[in-house]
Formats: sequence, C-alpha cells, structure tokens
Amino acid sequence: MGNGFLISFACAFVILISWLHQVELSEVNGGCDFFNGSWVEDDTYPLYENSKCPLITKGFDCQANGRPDKLYLKYKWKPTACSLPRFNGEDFLRKMKGKKILFVGDSISLNMWQSLTCMVHVAVPQAKYTLKNHGNLTTFALPDFDISLEYSHNVFLVDLVQEDIGTVLKLDSIENGNYSWKGYDVLIFNTWHWWLHTTAGKNQPWEFIESRGKIVKDMDRLAAFKEGLTTWSKWVDSNVDPQTTKVFFQGISPVHYAGKQWNGPASATCQGETTPLNGTTYPGGLPPAVDVVKEVLKSMSKPVTLLDITMLSLLRKDGHPSVYAGTKGNDCSHWCLAGVPDSWNEILYVFLSNGATI
Ligand SMILES: *[C@@H]1O[C@H](CO)[C@@H](O)[C@H](O)[C@H]1NC(C)=O
Ligand SMILES: *[C@@H]1O[C@H](CO)[C@@H](O)[C@H](O)[C@H]1NC(C)=O
Ligand SMILES: *[C@@H]1O[C@H](CO)[C@@H](O)[C@H](O)[C@H]1NC(C)=O
Ligand SMILES: *[C@@H]1O[C@H](CO)[C@@H](O)[C@H](O)[C@H]1NC(C)=O
Repeated sequence: MGNGFLISFACAFVILISWLHQVELSEVNGGCDFFNGSWVEDDTYPLYENSKCPLITKGFDCQANGRPDKLYLKYKWKPTACSLPRFNGEDFLRKMKGKKILFVGDSISLNMWQSLTCMVHVAVPQAKYTLKNHGNLTTFALPDFDISLEYSHNVFLVDLVQEDIGTVLKLDSIENGNYSWKGYDVLIFNTWHWWLHTTAGKNQPWEFIESRGKIVKDMDRLAAFKEGLTTWSKWVDSNVDPQTTKVFFQGISPVHYAGKQWNGPASATCQGETTPLNGTTYPGGLPPAVDVVKEVLKSMSKPVTLLDITMLSLLRKDGHPSVYAGTKGNDCSHWCLAGVPDSWNEILYVFLSNGATI
C-alpha cells in the first residue's frame, strides 16, 4: 500500500466525516422543534459539578445551601423529533472565538449567564478568566480564547427615569440601549417577572408609568409588558444588523407557586419536589405572557430567535432552589445551578452553531 493510497483514503475519510456533520446540521436546521420534548434521566448529567464552578452565586448554589436530593441534576432535555447535542465547551470556544455575547435582563438572565460561564469554565478549568463589574454590567472573559460573556442587569429593558414626580417607567423610551447594547455579536434579551411586581409586595421600583405620552399611576400589567416589549422590538428593528449580530429572546421562565401556573394542591409550591413531570405537556397551560412575546416577535422585521423555554421549564417543578436558596423563604422562580438553565444553554448552543433562526 503506497502513501498515495493512504493519503487519498484519509482525505475521503475527512470528506465523509464533514459530510455527515453537514447532514446532521441540516437535519437540525430542518425544523426540529427543540422546545417540544420531555425530560429523561441521564446519569452523565449534570454538565458540571457545582463545586467545580466558582462562578455560581449563593442563591443558585442549591447543593452548597444544603439541598439533600440529587436526582434533579440527572435529567437531560430530549426533544421529541431529534436529539439535542450535548454541550461541548471546547467546540463552543472554537466557534465563538473573537465574539462578545451579552445577556440583558433580570435575575433570570443572570441565572442563564452564570450557567453558561460554568459550562465554559469547566471545559478549560486551567485557563485564566477574568470577572469584572462595571455598574450594571458584569463581564466574564477568557483572554486566551478571546471570548467575553457579559450580563447587563436591566429588568424592564425600557427606561426607568428619575423625574420630579418620582420614578417613571417609560414604556415608549429605550435610550438605555443606545450605548450599552451595541457592538455585540450575540444579544440575548429577557424581561417579564418585574412587570408583575407591586407596591404591596414592596418590590415595584417605579411610582408612575408613562404610556403613549400619558402619565398613569398604574395599568394592566400584561398590556404594559406588551407596550414595553414592542418598544424593545422597534429598537432591535432599527439598530441591529443581522449580518453582524444574532438576537435571541430568552422566553418566559415560569414560576411554581400555588395559583401561578402551578397545578398542584392550592397550598403547594415547588418545595419538596424532587422529580420533573413526565410527558411533553404541562397540565396547567402556559402563562399569558408567552402569547405576548410571540405576537411581538412576529411583528418584527429583523430575525429574532425565541428560546421558547417555558413549557420545558414548567415540567421542572423540581428545578428551583426553593428553601435551598441560602436565605429565608422559598424561591420557586429562579433555578438551581447546575440545573435547568444548562439545558436552555444547550439549545442556545445549537442555534449559535447553526446560525438558525425560527
Ligand atoms: C444601572 O446602574 C445605575 C447606577 O447604579 C442605575 O442608576 C441605573 O438605573 C441602572 N440601569 C439599569 C438599566 O438598570
Ligand atoms: C436613542 O435611540 C433612540 C432610537 O432608538 C433615539 O430616538 C434617541 O434619540 C436616542 N437617544 C440618544 C440620547 O442618542
Ligand atoms: C413518570 O413519573 C413517575 C414519577 O416521577 C415515574 O415513577 C414514572 O416511571 C414516570 N413514567 C414514565 C413513563 O416515564
Ligand atoms: C409535542 O408534540 C407532540 C407530537 O407531535 C404533540 O402531541 C404534543 O402536543 C406537543 N406538545 C407540545 C407541548 O406542544
């Protein structure tokens, strides 16, 4: 056997492999619904041990906060029509070399961003990383891989402005995007939970809403959300160049409290839950904000990929910190890390790998 034969054999092999890879990718692009599926037990999960990731903050570090059960860490999201590739941190770093990725939103964005920083860090645990805070912006960077993953805390996306009358939530104004959301390769937005906060609950950060030029004391929150999100959609339509920047909307992350998309007994919360629901459908249905998001995205002229994580997350009544958030109280809105946001990021990884939009 001559060298020539070996070389052509090797070439043919490489061509075959890359062809198989293409086929796999085109099948992925060919319309698998990644958001319809179920949770299956998989002993090779989680993608990282919480103790191996120094980036997890206390509120998400359920094992460190004493959560006794571990089965919730052992689930993989399985789309009905295809399989979701396992996250490969080294491949992610190769594909994302030179890129700047920004998550913008509330603490659910923080949850997802932290998950991704862990998924990447454990792939190259020896590599030097930096973590910096500048006001509302937190930047995780791996200088050797020329990548930065950033999180901008911004709970409404539209502007919250201090005026003489008090703090005003301006549904039609989004100047805070002018400077801080430009120059990124990937933008992943999220907003919802804070639209429901009230003065009675002591966590509403505004005193007035400005809607279509009028100042009001309050209004229907779903309608306010829609107006704010529409303003955001116009910002994207007029400021984002799809050739250089991919835009995602993170979707509505559900909570599991009695009476709020939770179909358990009236007094139930996520407390004590240790397994997901099986099947593809949550019996309580979807929160109405999901329809608002879909409607607004449909009206846009620029492509935005919806990470439609609501249903898959609803099935994970076991995924919240609950009483293991490291504080008093019962957190059924954030998610333990490792945990459910890792699967959101596995889906994000597929879309980033394939350049697909829905
Ligand atoms: C960013 O931080 C500044 C200073 O802490 C604050 O005044 C501002 O409201 C924040 N912006 C957003 C969008 O949260
Ligand atoms: C910010 O951008 C909006 C359009 O998205 C524009 O109307 C507004 O004038 C800009 N503001 C500043 C201060 O540049
Ligand atoms: C459904 O869930 C229950 C309890 O979580 C489990 O015992 C059962 O095996 C599951 N069924 C299927 C078909 O996966
Ligand atoms: C997922 O797909 C199956 C089969 O097509 C369908 O029966 C089911 O209703 C879907 N579930 C959701 C949540 O859309």
